Amino acid sequence: MAAYEYETHDYDVVVVGAGGAGLRATLGMAEQGLRTACVTKVFPTRSHTVAAQGGIAASLSNMGPDSWQWHMYDTVKGSDWLGDTDAMEYLAREAPKAVYELEHYGVPFSRTEDGKIYQRPFGGHTTEYGEGPPVQRTCAAADRTGHAMLHTLYGQSLKNNAEFFIEYFALDLMITDGRCTGVVAWKLDDGTLHVFNAKMTVLATGGYGRAYFSATSAHTCTGDGGGMVARAGLPLQDMEFVQFHPTGIYGSGCLITEGARGEGGYLTNSNGERFMERYAPTYKDLASRDVVSRCMTIEIREGRGVGPNKDHIHLNLSHLPRETLDLRLPGITESAKIFAGVDLTKEPIPVLPTVHYNMGGIPTNYWGEVLNPTPANPDAVFPGLMAVGEAACASVHGANRLGSNSLIDLVVFGRAASIRASKVVDAGADVPVTHKPSVDAALTRFDAARHANGAIPTAHLRLEMQRTMQADAAVFRTDKTLAEGVAKMTAVAGKMADLKVTDRSLIWNSDLMETLELANLMPNALATIVAAEARKESRGAHAQEDHPNRDDAKWRVHSLAVVDGAKVTLSTRPVHLEPLTKFEDGGIDLAKIAPKARVY
Ligand code: FUM
Repeated sequence: MAAYEYETHDYDVVVVGAGGAGLRATLGMAEQGLRTACVTKVFPTRSHTVAAQGGIAASLSNMGPDSWQWHMYDTVKGSDWLGDTDAMEYLAREAPKAVYELEHYGVPFSRTEDGKIYQRPFGGHTTEYGEGPPVQRTCAAADRTGHAMLHTLYGQSLKNNAEFFIEYFALDLMITDGRCTGVVAWKLDDGTLHVFNAKMTVLATGGYGRAYFSATSAHTCTGDGGGMVARAGLPLQDMEFVQFHPTGIYGSGCLITEGARGEGGYLTNSNGERFMERYAPTYKDLASRDVVSRCMTIEIREGRGVGPNKDHIHLNLSHLPRETLDLRLPGITESAKIFAGVDLTKEPIPVLPTVHYNMGGIPTNYWGEVLNPTPANPDAVFPGLMAVGEAACASVHGANRLGSNSLIDLVVFGRAASIRASKVVDAGADVPVTHKPSVDAALTRFDAARHANGAIPTAHLRLEMQRTMQADAAVFRTDKTLAEGVAKMTAVAGKMADLKVTDRSLIWNSDLMETLELANLMPNALATIVAAEARKESRGAHAQEDHPNRDDAKWRVHSLAVVDGAKVTLSTRPVHLEPLTKFEDGGIDLAKIAPKARVY
């Protein structure tokens, strides 16, 4: 191996990733006086949160009656009873506080006539524990909510003296005697290597949508945190649950916000029929995302898709008042024009369910602390390591996330991680010394990738992985597609040793960067398909046609996947059923959130 020199940095906390969760954690840590570094592979305001359109869920009651208990009920039902009760309570209870904090930090929310934060309806968000009409719970900054949040949180983090290391790619965690003590990173623009020693490391690296061929996710969504955690021998949780957003633009996959349906848009098939009325008579186009995506897929399969190949669906918005489009949905008006060539004031937008979100990820408790479950202690914490946002599995989304529960997850748990860090990180203590064996291992892997001289270009293997995942771990799954998918993905992962990298430089080397990203995508993808093959039931986004019913007796458990090369070892851990607060002390009535049939 070439001898690599590296620069060393010492911090109380290092946050990896600068999307909504990473920035909220960074800000919270810095506000408390912890010396905080944020290491990010893209400029903070270009993180994928920038693409979040429709809004952030919180029961503010600005547009009508609402309560945290109704929000929690909807989240429990949305999760198809796989979410952890304590974490879901924490999310729903803390959401209003977290949104008001954003408002005070300066997020330019859209406003009602009387100056309150504007809220719109979103799928699966209801009143009266699912018995009442849809609720307007999703707080919006037009259809650019994520963009507004990122700019605000980045500015506030700088104001609080957080230090940013921008366009640094995190290679691996340092683990010293069973504790995380920082990360090793590669600086993309000058090729230097860096070691960040820290008392607490927070992974906020986002999802792994790019394991699939067609995704609303940015090309940067390569599951880097999950990859690092898998290489450290820690498990990933609930990876079989992958969300397809109903309205990705046909062809490009670009997101058309669910807010479009929230503002009154609707889907039609080739007969011009509003088919959601048949499947979800009460909430129709505002049923939960997994439900709408499945109904669209059934319409296409049964020959009622639109277009020359009858392979997509129409989203209609032309009946909406011009003012609504201009004021509430300006971004998608532009996206429809650019990515579909459609003037949505006159024509429908061609859409298709598109990979959008990973419910699974790095298991954590509701303080963001990473878990390393054992049979004796399924909630054992791995010291020195936290994960937040889409990289993590807290688990509040269970088997299916409700739209706009993602942005609130980012800020509630980014904030929770910093509250916890204030208790467990001692600002006066010494920063851990560099763990040289971890650095050597990280740099050996880096060097091997840099000099990879096999037969397969990285882009070819990535495409093979993406096509396999798209075909075999899709909206509908069967025993056969999943078994074939596991065999194909095992073979694909086995080819990692035969990659060919042609560019050997250290500076702006996208060939090497994409190879390292592929090494992160691969364990995420493999865990997804293996866990999906093992789960013999249908729940949330995991629609298994050979096992069409939910099986609570056997499968109301979290799956855990430990990935070692092309080998995945599965186990389970119990779902948390205890709330944080007892009913008599102001908590939710547990009878209200008992499992039942999930209909909209
Ligand atoms: O449809 C959307 O605006 C996406 C929101 C979300 O995934 O939460």
